[in-house]
Amino acid sequence: MCGVSSRRKADQLIKEGRVKVNGQVVRDLGVKIDPELDRVEVDGKEVRPLRKRYIILNKPCCYLTQLGKSQSGKKTIEELIKDIPERVFPVGRLDYNTEGLLILTNDGELANRVLHPRYKLPKVYLALVKGKVSKNTLRKMKRGIELEDGFAVPDDVRIVRYEGDNTLLEITFHEGRKHIVKRFLASFGHPVIKLKRIAIGPLTLGKLPPGKWRDLSERELRQLFSAVGLKYSP
Ligand code: URA
Repeated sequence: MCGVSSRRKADQLIKEGRVKVNGQVVRDLGVKIDPELDRVEVDGKEVRPLRKRYIILNKPCCYLTQLGKSQSGKKTIEELIKDIPERVFPVGRLDYNTEGLLILTNDGELANRVLHPRYKLPKVYLALVKGKVSKNTLRKMKRGIELEDGFAVPDDVRIVRYEGDNTLLEITFHEGRKHIVKRFLASFGHPVIKLKRIAIGPLTLGKLPPGKWRDLSERELRQLFSAVGLKYSP
């Protein structure tokens, strides 16, 4: 939380005896500190928690939702958020070729709640699918379908418009199983050509261009916290 290292590397720093609490070297990973009262040093330099940061990124196609370099040489979202000093991490994932709204934060509790199905936070997607979705298929989609890892039913699905031989759908899920939208739509014979997430709970992308990020406003934070049963205090 001080922007010094990842959690795992921090364990290593402690084991190597490079961390002091109130002037004493600590080697026990379980030591608890009060950041208001205790003085923590790494390699002799005092460190302090950075402020909580909440941003949204409009992830473009063809970026991996991960920090650091990828093994495959593919681009990662890290290069889009290089200018943020806090160690923010993505809340959930978008596929490599999916675009759209991604929340990044260093607030672990908020992140857990956004992802937890208990809070039923709706995630809204625009999906361009192959073929013309009929009214009958749309009705079946609304009833849900058994996938290989269990039943899946959207909170909502509607036809936005037909685009030539294809259909643009708006589909909402509050769960986050891997490839849920693509698997769901493919199981009705309508594979996804292009997918974009346009909203998470009260947050929408608005006019944020692909590849750009912005801080959430206080109003958005209040709405987001309240949607997951927390109170926002600046
Ligand atoms: N569902 C998918 O299939 N892909 C995503 O990236 C997000 C939801």
